[in-house]
Amino acid sequence: MKAAVETLTPLRSKDPFDVWSIRSDFPILNRKVNGKPLVYLDNAATTQKPMCVVDSLRRYYLEDNSNIHRGVHYLSQKATEGYENSRKNLCGFINAQQTQEIIFVRGTTEGINLVANSFVKKRINAGEEILITGMEHHSNIVPWQIVCQETGAILRVAPINDKGEIILEEYEKMLSPKVKFVSLVHISNSLGTVNPVKQMIEMAHAHDIPVLIDGAQTVSHMKLDVQDLNCDFYVFSGHKMFGPTGIGVLYGKSEYLENMSPYQGGGDMIKSVTFEKTIYNDLPYKFEAGTPNIAGATALGAASDYINKIGIDNIYAYEQDLLAYATQALLSVDGLRMIGAAKNKSAVISFMLEDVHPHDIGTIIDSEGVAIRTGHHCTQPVMQRFGIPATARASFAMYNTKDEVDALIRSIEKAKKIFR
Ligand code: ALA
Repeated sequence: MKAAVETLTPLRSKDPFDVWSIRSDFPILNRKVNGKPLVYLDNAATTQKPMCVVDSLRRYYLEDNSNIHRGVHYLSQKATEGYENSRKNLCGFINAQQTQEIIFVRGTTEGINLVANSFVKKRINAGEEILITGMEHHSNIVPWQIVCQETGAILRVAPINDKGEIILEEYEKMLSPKVKFVSLVHISNSLGTVNPVKQMIEMAHAHDIPVLIDGAQTVSHMKLDVQDLNCDFYVFSGHKMFGPTGIGVLYGKSEYLENMSPYQGGGDMIKSVTFEKTIYNDLPYKFEAGTPNIAGATALGAASDYINKIGIDNIYAYEQDLLAYATQALLSVDGLRMIGAAKNKSAVISFMLEDVHPHDIGTIIDSEGVAIRTGHHCTQPVMQRFGIPATARASFAMYNTKDEVDALIRSIEKAKKIFR
């Protein structure tokens, strides 16, 4: 809620990035795991939550809990204010043109499914194509496969090179008149690749093809300006940007959203209902059927304020430095092979260690208090592309430190000794 962030003063550009002060906002980072200080390096899966987000959730349930939009009583108005203020915050956070372009959804996956069902499925015919890339998360593959199964459309995949970068010339060649929609990941969750999405959107728009960007791994790591990107849709999840689970945002250009049919029917998305006919509500409510995640949406506004307070450019610079340090440190481990070596990378490092299965690495280093993720990271086609079953993945956030990278390296060395 507003009160949660009123006391926050934005860092001035001359202020140093104070990682220890940031860490003190995240109480969980002080806990021990297996008797060792927690080293949390699974931020691509979900980030930890600062006190202002926890306070916002707590305050909502303890002080303001009520249903929104339809109540004239005080609590309903307070709850509505928190929910709608958050929409305004998020509109500013991604530089959307207007608040009606911000649709609250459960997360990235629901946002993509909404666009697949309410937009693409209605516009595509048998034999026409949907284009994605070879580094998509399953949530940006399966909804399109379902559309293809139901319409006879064809899913095409732009290839990636051995570094884990999109092959732009191939992508451009694939933008034939048959392609009716493009859906691209901004930052790969398993490779860390930052795609040149602005250029890719321009290329698609040159053929009048609308584009959705999956920004799940972007919002807490680098600046996002949807007007500058000129994407038609952009989706992201709150829990990967220090907000709660179960809440996220679908941004859509209003010219598209206006003409799309609702995703779900129910309360709040209507203006009037008779048994003969229903008139749908205006944007954004047309896409927010039923009682939403009020507490989560409100706390997501607090999370975006928190990021603004630190400054996304400060976060980006800090994480790039950490990435360079971690890359060098990991490459110095004998027998370690990195998967994903794009020129433009976010702070995600996937790796293999000799012939030790990634799950075994994950388990051993967990005993040292170090949390990484192992597996296919919901990107099985990426694993197939590199001929591997899984990777170990360390993914960083603004509260991680070089000391934690050193702890990761020590734990990997320990795992190596055990499996030798
Ligand atoms: N998509 C999440 C990840 O990369 C769950 O771990």
